[in-house]
Amino acid sequence: MKPLIELHNVHKNYVMGKSIVRALRGLSLKITEDEFVAMVGASGSGKSTAMHLMGCLDTPSHGKVIFEGKDILNLSSNELATIRRERIGFVFQTFNLMNTMSALDNVLLPTVFKNDDVNYEKRARDLLKEVGLSHRIAHKPSELSGGERQRIAIARSLINDPEVVFADEPTGNLDSVTGRKVMNFLKRVNKVRKKTIVIVTHDLELAKEADRIIKLKDGVRL
Ligand SMILES: Nc1ncnc2c1ncn2[C@@H]1O[C@H](COP(=O)(O)OP(=O)(O)OP(=O)(O)O)[C@@H](O)[C@H]1O
Ligand SMILES: [Mg+2]
Repeated sequence: MKPLIELHNVHKNYVMGKSIVRALRGLSLKITEDEFVAMVGASGSGKSTAMHLMGCLDTPSHGKVIFEGKDILNLSSNELATIRRERIGFVFQTFNLMNTMSALDNVLLPTVFKNDDVNYEKRARDLLKEVGLSHRIAHKPSELSGGERQRIAIARSLINDPEVVFADEPTGNLDSVTGRKVMNFLKRVNKVRKKTIVIVTHDLELAKEADRIIKLKDGVRL
């Protein structure tokens, strides 16, 4: 199996005025194509930071991030934007939905720069149906519950048919029944559509269902 993403001795420092937060302190890992990986660790252990780097949303302070064999530091901002758009789906811990747009338009947002003959509106409607939100497509995020917003973010992450989906706490705001449905949906996306899935979760029961668990502590692997 091909490695999709590799982190080699990655450090990430956030500079806060005169102090430095060392969010990652030498993290190394590999994610293989078609894997379902769960990342776990205490709050502040660096899970979101690691995901942002794996998803080419940020660059390391030291060390290497390799996406599909390419060191992301050697890519131009255009090349990175293309990878993010074509290869990666991202579900943010805070959803990052557009408040003035409907659920349907939020799911369609990553397709605005696409220039092909895929019927994205149909795909968006199908995805919203798969996450149980057919009856909410015209609602704006402010007219939806936290769990519904989370499921819109999950539908949006799949609209461009990415190779890998990074989902930061995709069940964090859901009751256990809805959380279970979302987990089953992500497992189907992994097994049936052959997508690589990396989730962050605090729920150890859900984490156990992944192919593999990566544990973080203080910015390194436990
Ligand atoms: N943009 C930022 N600027 C400064 N410090 C940051 C920034 N983002 C994260 N940090 C700090 O880096 C550390 C790791 O943060 P990160 O968000 O990766 O943790 P996490 O494991 O995702 O936590 P949680 O489970 O609470 O979401 C924390 O101490 C956090 O305060
Ligand atoms: Mg986080």
